Amino acid sequence: MNKHISLFGVLLFAFILASCSGGDDGKNRPGNKAENTDGLIVVGFSQVGAESDWRRANTRSMRETFTREKGYQLILKDAQQKQEHQVAAIRDFIQKKVNYIVLAPVTEQGWDSVLKEAKIAGIPVIIMDRMIRTSDNTFFVSWVGSDFRKEGATAVAWMEKTFKNLNIAHIQGNIGSSAQIGRTEGLREGVDRNPGWRIVVRDSGDFTQVKGKEIMERFLGEYRDIDVLYCENDNMAFGAIQALDEGRLPYGASGGLKIISFDATRAGLEQTLARNISYNVECNPLHGPRVEKIIQQLQLGKTPNKIAYVDETAFSADTITREEIDARAY
Ligand code: AHR
Repeated sequence: MNKHISLFGVLLFAFILASCSGGDDGKNRPGNKAENTDGLIVVGFSQVGAESDWRRANTRSMRETFTREKGYQLILKDAQQKQEHQVAAIRDFIQKKVNYIVLAPVTEQGWDSVLKEAKIAGIPVIIMDRMIRTSDNTFFVSWVGSDFRKEGATAVAWMEKTFKNLNIAHIQGNIGSSAQIGRTEGLREGVDRNPGWRIVVRDSGDFTQVKGKEIMERFLGEYRDIDVLYCENDNMAFGAIQALDEGRLPYGASGGLKIISFDATRAGLEQTLARNISYNVECNPLHGPRVEKIIQQLQLGKTPNKIAYVDETAFSADTITREEIDARAY
């Protein structure tokens, strides 16, 4: 009898040990089929915020992709454009032992410590949208997003075809984000190449409509001799348009100050068709299916591309059509 009890005890102990070792059995490493107790793959997603139409379309794309029906549990945390919130979210995901972390980083710098913690915990990190700079590129498994420098170069190529001498007003996005760095860099290269181009006013509008309006109002108070407004996203351009209307400065593709914008969201393209925005460079936010493809590859033990740029185009007020806007998914 005693012999049976002690055999039962040993088996019970072995069973408890096996169940407790769940976090250490390598289930979070790329290639292993990691699942939570409901059999779902748990994805912790640290999103920048809800600052723009682009961002909201990006969040929608993630929510529509990572559904329970498809076998996922998505834990989404909105960082309200603050890096410290993103660091806290990642630490929380690590504690929760999620299977994958997806990070849409607000800025490029400052990720080393927290991503090292994720790596030690064996949780693969996928970077989406903006890029990061790390001392060790094994801190993330894959990145998918836009070539922001190319977006800037596309806008500048249009400006070079159209203008020789220019006074430029520049509304930047969040300072230190790849979207701001790339688009600003594109413009800087254009100004370096074109002796007749001058940036007369510049400030950051954090990619929001409210700030875009505020900054444009201030610009107009300081300087009205502006030929081009180079505005680093659609929402800031909408704010600037409100300020231009109120400040009674003529603008548009048919005459007056020309507005260049980025994102080419549906609302941005409506403004382009109305000829209020002269040129709009696309930035594609539909990353949900792209991130899912990466996760599926990891689940199968495959190695996804380290870096994947999304194809993007641009729209001019002179050529855009109603059909292009109606076909827009965001
Ligand atoms: O990182 C992408 C940028 O972030 C988009 O251009 C902007 O609208 C968003 O907020």
